[in-house]
Amino acid sequence: MENINESSVPARVDAEDSSTDDLQGQELLQGLEKASWHGVSLCKYKGVWCPLTVFVPTLRCEKYFKARDTDIILATLPKAGTTWLKALTFAVVNRSRYPLDKHPLLTSNPQSLIPSLEFNIYDQENENPDLDLIPDPRIFSTHTHYDSLVSTVVVESKCRVIHICRNPLDQVISLWHFMINMIGIGRFVPLDEFLETYCQGMHVYGPFWEHVLGYWNAHLKSPEKVLFLKYEDLKKDINFSMKKIAEFIGFPFSLEEEKAGLIEEIAKLCSFDKLKNLEVNKVGMHSPHIKNSYFFRKGEIGDSANYLTPHMVDRIEKVVEEKFEGSGLKF
Ligand code: A3P
Repeated sequence: MENINESSVPARVDAEDSSTDDLQGQELLQGLEKASWHGVSLCKYKGVWCPLTVFVPTLRCEKYFKARDTDIILATLPKAGTTWLKALTFAVVNRSRYPLDKHPLLTSNPQSLIPSLEFNIYDQENENPDLDLIPDPRIFSTHTHYDSLVSTVVVESKCRVIHICRNPLDQVISLWHFMINMIGIGRFVPLDEFLETYCQGMHVYGPFWEHVLGYWNAHLKSPEKVLFLKYEDLKKDINFSMKKIAEFIGFPFSLEEEKAGLIEEIAKLCSFDKLKNLEVNKVGMHSPHIKNSYFFRKGEIGDSANYLTPHMVDRIEKVVEEKFEGSGLKF
């Protein structure tokens, strides 16, 4: 897999006039429910609160993206552990390609090594980039719901999807900090207000329960297609989780690699402390609104206890209990 970022996405081929998609998107948008979520414009598309800025890219992705059987799609809610999953998947897939002391993760933020379908690939001037030029296995990320992936990814190919979820208490606190930080768009929102919209399912790519349950149910139905991970499990035993990821995507570690300590080495390279303290992640910019450092805050389980009152915890736990009841999924 090449070191792909926004600027290296190749130009499109044989697409219709670029204005067509935009016009169709604008027309479709007219009929959709819209909301301003703490300063971020959202529209409800197929049951998902999609940021307005990536609405047209989302439509383009649905229209043009053709998954290959060898593709790997990392599907996450923001703040569930996307950056970590990107680092691990990239490092596992490319382990024979780069020596660990000259690894792209030492000089690039994991977010830019694996492009997002809606935020990078289809957010270009050219609406249909030629993704055929990217060698196998292509790795993409997405924040969208499982149902939105169905036609392009699930039905038409044998590509694999990895989902990581996180305890909603920690996730909402992580999201709250991220939103406040965003340069130019971020603004302070009292936590109780932020929490209330989250519990109502109104937040980027919400409702969170539909997002998580979509991937959970798909995993139960087709475990060979959808791997379901929990941030907390990775924290508890990263070596075991990494072996699971490697096997799932068809890059299992050999006995020799295990004996040589390669799993531990990759885990160290992708660890929070290692990545957070790299120059690129301390001073680099991910986009005009987002510093690389925003993706590395605390990286802990249970940090929410430092912010949430017992009443707030109760409010989220009630939603979680109600929405996940009978699903078999526990946080
Ligand atoms: P906190 O805000 O709780 O610290 P995402 O990558 O989906 O945007 O999620 C960001 C969250 O994952 C942040 O959580 C961040 O600190 C944490 N994170 C980033 N890289 C990590 C890593 N290598 N290991 C563990 N957690 C990590």
